[in-house]
Amino acid sequence: MKTSANQLKSRKGLIAALDVGTTKICTLIARSDVERGLSGEVQPRIVGVGHQVSGGVRNGAVIDLDAAEQSIRAVVEAAEQMAGENIGSVVVNLSGGRQQSRLIAYEVSIAGHEISDADIRRVLDPVSLAGEVAEDREFIHTIPVGYTVDGNRGVVDPKGMFGERLSVNTHIITALRGPLRNLETAVSKCHLGLEDVVVSPYASALGCLSDDEKKMGVTCIDMGGGTTSVAVFFDGELVHTDSIRVGGVNVTNDISRGLVTPLVHAERMKTLYANALPSEKDDLQVIQVPAMGDNETGDGNTVPRSMLVGIVRPRIEEIFELLRDRLRESGFDKVAGRGLVLTGGASQLAGAPEVAARILDKQVRRGRPITMDGMPEAAAGPTFATCVGLLRYACGHRADEPDHGLGVTAEPEGRMGRIGQWLRENF
Ligand SMILES: Nc1ncnc2c1ncn2[C@@H]1O[C@H](COP(=O)(O)OP(=O)(O)OP(=O)(O)O)[C@@H](O)[C@H]1O
Ligand SMILES: [Mg+2]
Repeated sequence: MKTSANQLKSRKGLIAALDVGTTKICTLIARSDVERGLSGEVQPRIVGVGHQVSGGVRNGAVIDLDAAEQSIRAVVEAAEQMAGENIGSVVVNLSGGRQQSRLIAYEVSIAGHEISDADIRRVLDPVSLAGEVAEDREFIHTIPVGYTVDGNRGVVDPKGMFGERLSVNTHIITALRGPLRNLETAVSKCHLGLEDVVVSPYASALGCLSDDEKKMGVTCIDMGGGTTSVAVFFDGELVHTDSIRVGGVNVTNDISRGLVTPLVHAERMKTLYANALPSEKDDLQVIQVPAMGDNETGDGNTVPRSMLVGIVRPRIEEIFELLRDRLRESGFDKVAGRGLVLTGGASQLAGAPEVAARILDKQVRRGRPITMDGMPEAAAGPTFATCVGLLRYACGHRADEPDHGLGVTAEPEGRMGRIGQWLRENF
């Protein structure tokens, strides 16, 4: 059962985040009622952590319910043991489901009276947005990204203002129902309720971006094992997401095939010696390449390091070129300015930031999870960005986002047209 972010914000006690990744599953349990900040917001303290190799997940989607259930169960039990408490539900990320991200504009009549909460609810009503989602899809997020009152743009909070027409640009993210149900089923098989579902690029961005970056505009790329996903922020709000089904696993497979070596050694070589940037010294260094079928001794051929770089580099370039082209196509390549944050396990590849900077023409930094109280060393690396982001989301980061139920069928009324509108208005 989904609950609204508002409920989550006020909920005391335990909050649990579950990141179902292609290569690893991890969970963080936090206590949200220990302390409150000056403005009264929840200051959670992490009390439990669990992580392990994932099972039953491919390119971010659950493909084997039993295997996924087993690994989720093991991870949650480890975190519960550490916390000394049991959890009843989790906030989980969704990576699969062929997600679509769109901005749509919608307008309602105010007829000169003072704009109330009811008017704002009306303009954000899922019924109004229903025509925007196909039969086989569900809303995952509906995020207001800017109100206009009688043509005056840039209104942050229209409540209490007077006017004839109130309009809002809403960022809607939808996903195919099947993959969403598979994720929900894997979680519920572990006797866990589902507090909320957050798309992975959104969670990763919340996990490692500063408020200033989000305000000034920034692009965040999560380089995972089976997916690489993008989140674009502008004026503090998430305005675009995208994802491709390529990641670190493909790099490892390329090495294994290219050097004819077992996957386990390909993975090791990748983390120890690979680089997405060539260097003059690459020809002088030699690396051991254990032969196929020899997982034990590690004996085998030697090759120059340039050969490894020659395998890894085109794949990394391909990933960033694909993302660059898709960002251009969406119109969001320039929107967020030049800041780019790379996170996720595969972003640790040497040379990845430099290649991203060149291809996407941005200024790049590596993104590690924002530190939280009680955060153990194990959760400090970029593979934990998504999980930390889920926790931050659960603690009310998106408390103003209305919860949109499912199964809405009514035709939209007063819709101003498919987007392009927001981009036209703002740029
Ligand atoms: N030092 C490193 N250099 C290069 N790649 C690395 C390094 N450390 C980890 N990786 C890669 O990071 C990937 C895992 O990253 P991460 O844990 O973020 O993915 P995931 O969440 O399981 O997958 P996804 O988000 O795609 O579902 C693996 O492909 C792994 O090989
Ligand atoms: Mg991931």
